[in-house]
Amino acid sequence: MNRVALVVGSTGLIGQHLLEKLSNNSDYDQIFALTRKPLKRKFSKVKEIIVDFENIENVQLETTIDDAFCCLGTTMRKAGSKDAFFKVDFTYCINFGKLAFQNGAKTFQIVSSMGANASSPFYYNKVKGKVENELANMNFPTLNIFQPSLLLGERSETRVGEDLGKVLNQIFAPLIPKKYKGIEGQKVADYMMKKALDTSLSGVNKFTSDLMQ
Ligand SMILES: NC(=O)c1ccc[n+]([C@@H]2O[C@H](COP(=O)([O-])OP(=O)(O)OC[C@H]3O[C@@H](n4cnc5c(N)ncnc54)[C@H](OP(=O)(O)O)[C@@H]3O)[C@@H](O)[C@H]2O)c1
Repeated sequence: MNRVALVVGSTGLIGQHLLEKLSNNSDYDQIFALTRKPLKRKFSKVKEIIVDFENIENVQLETTIDDAFCCLGTTMRKAGSKDAFFKVDFTYCINFGKLAFQNGAKTFQIVSSMGANASSPFYYNKVKGKVENELANMNFPTLNIFQPSLLLGERSETRVGEDLGKVLNQIFAPLIPKKYKGIEGQKVADYMMKKALDTSLSGVNKFTSDLMQ
């Protein structure tokens, strides 16, 4: 099938799993990973391109692409302010969308979040909702939006709130509806790739955590 993928956020929890899955999938010939620092793991079909995220929409690619995957994101704690959080989770994602669109992407996949809603009183959910709406306005032939609940998996850093959520998730697992249960990052990555390859999809599609479980 000879598809070309373009990925951002490939050093993160979902992004690392995604790169591995894409490079092991014979549908993909080439994968471009745009990153601000070198990848820790190297894969045969992956070409890493170190970019300045302030100008990501101007990156020159050597070929048109088929499927774009956005796994970018930060936390309010890491970003340090609402504006800095907005820059990564909205501006960089939208500028990546522009780059993907200009380079012919037929499908665009983004990891958003459970609760994403542009009218939400919660800033995180509001930003996620805004980015979903803005991408929908770009008119990709297919836009696939993934809304996971708490992400499970190995991280090199400690995130106190998320770690507490993981403990509660384990204790109350039998009582939590599927949509709200924690989900492994690699399950999300796998689902993203499958939906990018699903030619029956078109327009804007949203996938909640229960579907990805
Ligand atoms: N954590 C959760 O429980 C949860 C739940 C639902 C949805 N989500 C959303 O899911 C998405 C993916 O989550 P994840 O846990 O896989 O992400 P992650 O492990 O935190 O990785 C985030 C990725 O974004 C990149 N990034 C962050 N800040 C950047 C910046 N200023 N400039 C350039 N790149 C930057 C990181 O690159 P570096 O390695 O260079 O920092 C990394 O590749 C995020 O949008 C997140 O909001 C998370």
